[in-house]
Amino acid sequence: MIKVEKLIKRYGANTVLNGIDLSIEKGEIIVVIGPSGTGKSTLLRCINFLECADSGRITLGGLSVDAARASKRDILTLRRQTAFVFQNYALFANKNALANVAERLIIVDGWPKARAHARAREILERIGLADKADAYPAALSGGQQQRVGIGRAMAANAELILFDEPTSALDPEWVDEVLGLMKALAAERQTMLVVTHEMQFARDVADRVIFMDGGRIVEQGPPDKLFTDPQDERTRAFLRKVLAQQPSLAP
Ligand SMILES: Nc1ncnc2c1ncn2[C@@H]1O[C@H](COP(=O)(O)OP(=O)(O)OP(=O)(O)O)[C@@H](O)[C@H]1O
Ligand SMILES: [Mg+2]
Repeated sequence: MIKVEKLIKRYGANTVLNGIDLSIEKGEIIVVIGPSGTGKSTLLRCINFLECADSGRITLGGLSVDAARASKRDILTLRRQTAFVFQNYALFANKNALANVAERLIIVDGWPKARAHARAREILERIGLADKADAYPAALSGGQQQRVGIGRAMAANAELILFDEPTSALDPEWVDEVLGLMKALAAERQTMLVVTHEMQFARDVADRVIFMDGGRIVEQGPPDKLFTDPQDERTRAFLRKVLAQQPSLAP
């Protein structure tokens, strides 16, 4: 469904993505893990064209583009098929929950306001925030704000939702409600590419876990295999470190 080929991204002399090849099937749930600074966010941002890669190809929904030379029109076409959930929610502070969820439908997809708001109400219902439609982000808890962030992505009806550490800015008490919503989406087989340090979520929900280091995919596989029998020493070292902080998960 989506294919990334030989993706390279540099910042000055720093090669942040060093030839990423990745195919994702429709309905697949993929979790990306790896040390800080290894290019996980950059990969998501390049897939969504929030950043422009230096070379490589991106294919999505029948459109295949040179990632370094995509036209504005192609970028818009590809972007319509993806949605992004940010670590810091990135909600519009001056819009209420309803308008935040409806925004993209109006601006990107050109829906009339009434139709977009009707759809946004359905979404708020589904994410358990129907009673918060009129609330502004400042009046919502972190967990509620992130659920609105996910609701916005759901409204887009995107082929692929990209999540960049969606729970790591949250107080611990709000993490479960956000992971719960993500699990519900996964159960519907919404295609998802999720960067997270939540190893239990990865174990329970991912079809495939990808370990990145130094701008490369070092190793990937089903969580059962990757967590219990990692092949590469870098994967082993990373998992040792993370699992020491989440001891209940040690194999
Ligand atoms: N806009 C930018 N300009 C220059 N360098 C950048 C920029 N964005 C990211 N980098 C660098 O690219 C590298 C990869 O960053 P990236 O944010 O993709 O890592 P990450 O794997 O998401 O890390 P983390 O787990 O800390 O979020 C880092 O060395 C970072 O400093
Ligand atoms: Mg990151």
